[in-house]
Amino acid sequence: MKLTIIGTGYVGLVTGACFAEMGSRVTCVDIDTAKIENLKKGILPIYEPGLERIVQENMADGTLQFTTRLEDAARDCQIFFIAVGTPPGEDGSADLQYVRRVAARIGQCMTDYAVIVDKSTVPVGTADQVAEVVQEALDTRGIDLEFDVVSNPEFLKEGAAIQDFLKPDRIIVGANSERAAKIMTRLYAPFSMNRDKMILMNVRDAEMTKYAANAMLATKISFMNEIANICEHLGVDVENVRKGIGSDSRIGYSFIYPGAGYGGSCFPKDVKALIKTSKDTGVDPAVLAAVENRNNLQKKVLAEKIKARLGTDLSGRRFALWGLAFKPGTDDMREAASIVLIDNLLAAGAIVCAYDPVAMAQAARELPEAWLESSRLILANDQYQALENADAMILVTEWKTFRRPDFKRMGQLLNQKIIFDGRNQYDPEEVAEFGFEYHGIGREA
Ligand code: UGA
Repeated sequence: MKLTIIGTGYVGLVTGACFAEMGSRVTCVDIDTAKIENLKKGILPIYEPGLERIVQENMADGTLQFTTRLEDAARDCQIFFIAVGTPPGEDGSADLQYVRRVAARIGQCMTDYAVIVDKSTVPVGTADQVAEVVQEALDTRGIDLEFDVVSNPEFLKEGAAIQDFLKPDRIIVGANSERAAKIMTRLYAPFSMNRDKMILMNVRDAEMTKYAANAMLATKISFMNEIANICEHLGVDVENVRKGIGSDSRIGYSFIYPGAGYGGSCFPKDVKALIKTSKDTGVDPAVLAAVENRNNLQKKVLAEKIKARLGTDLSGRRFALWGLAFKPGTDDMREAASIVLIDNLLAAGAIVCAYDPVAMAQAARELPEAWLESSRLILANDQYQALENADAMILVTEWKTFRRPDFKRMGQLLNQKIIFDGRNQYDPEEVAEFGFEYHGIGREA
């Protein structure tokens, strides 16, 4: 099948590469010339384990191509995927200007019946808007072509995106016509070999499914973070509570890890957009608003713990920060808890020496220049260098390399043997044996 993927961001690139890997002929299109030139050389704009190999191999085979010219890609194309960004607008709703622009371009370029797939996370009703825009463009050309707009939200986790795409738990397809449903079923057949993973529904249901899934996961996290905070004041270890409730199959073990708050490009944005949608429909988003509120509060919890222990004025204090990315396995720092923490510590006068195994270049590019120039935020070369003369170590992202550190060496490098563990990675008893004072989330030693 001949596919065109528009948008070579995270979703578009993974989608294009994985379809090519499974035998489709794929052209990825982007208006960013520099990005496309780099991709043509096999240079990727993002870090995602396994992606580079798949991109390079499929380019070499000729199954994956990159271009800025949609008109070339569109010739005889059967399926267009819209995978451009939907950033939050000022009122929290998803900004659809890029989706609409791409829809218009497709209408200007398509040459035959085509399925147009919304892959971006878009609010209920977007497919109808896309159809209108495409139809307008066709009318302007004076051409009568049939097309269907399909919703096929992605469920990729950064850091595990290739695996998620190639071996999905489920494939959600919202299609309002038999013809489009059949084409989508054929397209995804190689991903559904062992069992039928496709769940077919109508377009609006599929659009909502994506938001509901992310909001549910965010709800589990915020709920657990709130439980953790209660536990802490009662002398209860939330880690035991987590294991205890996770064993109930109705609750399950996943997404109930308390921490420093959820980040990334999806949960914060999608919860916000769903709150807006809910309000627009006249439904009070009581649960969703609480989920968002708890998360905003949770991102401040580490700084509050530090101030409660070392004082609200942190001038002259130095902190080692382990982890900048919003989660392990990615260099993505969007909405990361680390940013709120650094902001709070710098505002209280502290010096922060940070290290992340993958996100250092990203940090140098994206963190506010004022922080880096003030030389109160230092980017360390390795995790142990970050500890030198620090008054405490703070763990924010649970990278594997931080899981079993050399506690003895840590103790020698730190000025004070204090650990603030924002992801409950360490055993309080074990670190106490090395002479550390330990502060976790929902568990105080
Ligand atoms: C999330 C969803 O998990 C994917 O299914 C979805 O496709 C994607 O959003 C999307 O909409 O594109 P992602 O943002 O990559 O994926 O990251 P997650 O692994 O879900 O983690 C999100 C945040 O929640 C991280 O900051 C993580 O540290 C936090 N988290 C996760 C917790 O604090 N506790 C947990 O138990 C799990």
